[in-house]
Amino acid sequence: MDDKRLKVAVLGCGSVGSQVVRLLTEQADDLAARVGAPVELVGVAVRRLDAQREVDVPAELLTTDAAGLVARDDVDLVVEVIGGIEPARSLILAALSGGASVVTANKALLAEDGPTLFEAAAKAERDLYYEAAVAGAIPILRPLRESLAGDRVTRVLGIVNGTTNFILDKMDTSGAGFSEALEEAQDLGFAEADPTADVEGFDAAAKAAILASLAFHSRVTASDVYREGISEVTAADVQSAREMDSVVKLLAICELRGDQVAARVHPAMIPRSHPLASVRGAYNAVFVESEAAGQLMFYGPGAGGSPTASAVLGDLVTVARNRLSDTRGAGESAYADRAVLPMGETRTRYHVALDVDDRSGVLAAVANAFADNDVSIQTVRQEGRGEDAQLVVVSHAATDAALSATVEHLRTMDIVRDVTSVMRVEGGDE
Ligand code: HSE
Repeated sequence: MDDKRLKVAVLGCGSVGSQVVRLLTEQADDLAARVGAPVELVGVAVRRLDAQREVDVPAELLTTDAAGLVARDDVDLVVEVIGGIEPARSLILAALSGGASVVTANKALLAEDGPTLFEAAAKAERDLYYEAAVAGAIPILRPLRESLAGDRVTRVLGIVNGTTNFILDKMDTSGAGFSEALEEAQDLGFAEADPTADVEGFDAAAKAAILASLAFHSRVTASDVYREGISEVTAADVQSAREMDSVVKLLAICELRGDQVAARVHPAMIPRSHPLASVRGAYNAVFVESEAAGQLMFYGPGAGGSPTASAVLGDLVTVARNRLSDTRGAGESAYADRAVLPMGETRTRYHVALDVDDRSGVLAAVANAFADNDVSIQTVRQEGRGEDAQLVVVSHAATDAALSATVEHLRTMDIVRDVTSVMRVEGGDE
């Protein structure tokens, strides 16, 4: 068996890389049995040789020369867990063109420039696997790429960012505002010191691009994904959701609309009865709707060194098996080549809470503002507050452009004292 030994280089030894190294070392015998040949770690590229690490890496394996490591002609498999665009892209391209198969967790790179990587893998006739790029340990890309390859996926609705889910969950359970909940997430290590990528939805948008590409066999990049984060979500929004027996979640939504693909990330109210509403704390979940299978939900830890390393190792075993049998897994599937629907044409529902004068004709005027913009109202709730009233209107599905024009219209009306909450509504009847 030893003559078939597969040599692995790991690029990056942060929280994921160190767990990959640990699993490769601790489970070497089981991995060899599962793959059919020993999988030998031959190098770990790091930025600094003397950095503190979660695992002890033998000094002779460490190198700061990542380019030199991927250029070694005895390396069969490269694991890229550096993250970011460069040097990760150049290293992956060099690994593929040098004949290695690649496993990566790099969602930002795949969402920005996936096609370049897929084309390089196809040209080199090597595997490029990336299960860990979306929702950490949760097997979701392989089910989309393989298990559902015979079905027609129509919608993917995901909570794919644990930091924002932790913050929104905290706001829901404690009534805290965004800043207070973010501070707690930072104190507990769930949010980064600079939380922009998570709270402004960039991380989720990259994952949405990857999910949409796989689900709909088309090329969708991060710049195709409409993105709104959670930093504007207020305690009043969350309270308003509670009053409708709903909860606010940051959703990544990828759907087929006619021949087009819609991909968006934004906070939305979903009914507490929806399976995604029960996703608490920093957990992730992806809800998939397909024509034949119906509704499927994938749930689990979406981040963290060890869970993400589990997904990396799963890919590594598959890629290693392919390598031994001199074959490759499925490459990119973009044959459907669907265009991306502009956000304004996407159909959504809105929840709008307004402080208005409490007198005759106000409700009719508010209803007219919706009607004038061709938006049908589903429910209206009114609460008197002395001279004022609060109106909570939930619309039926309409184009996002019509809904945002309705809100702009409401803001200009004299009888409307304030628009206190505007949020999209998902997961219920249209
Ligand atoms: N920062 C991400 C999250 C995990 O909070 O879920 C890595 O994508």
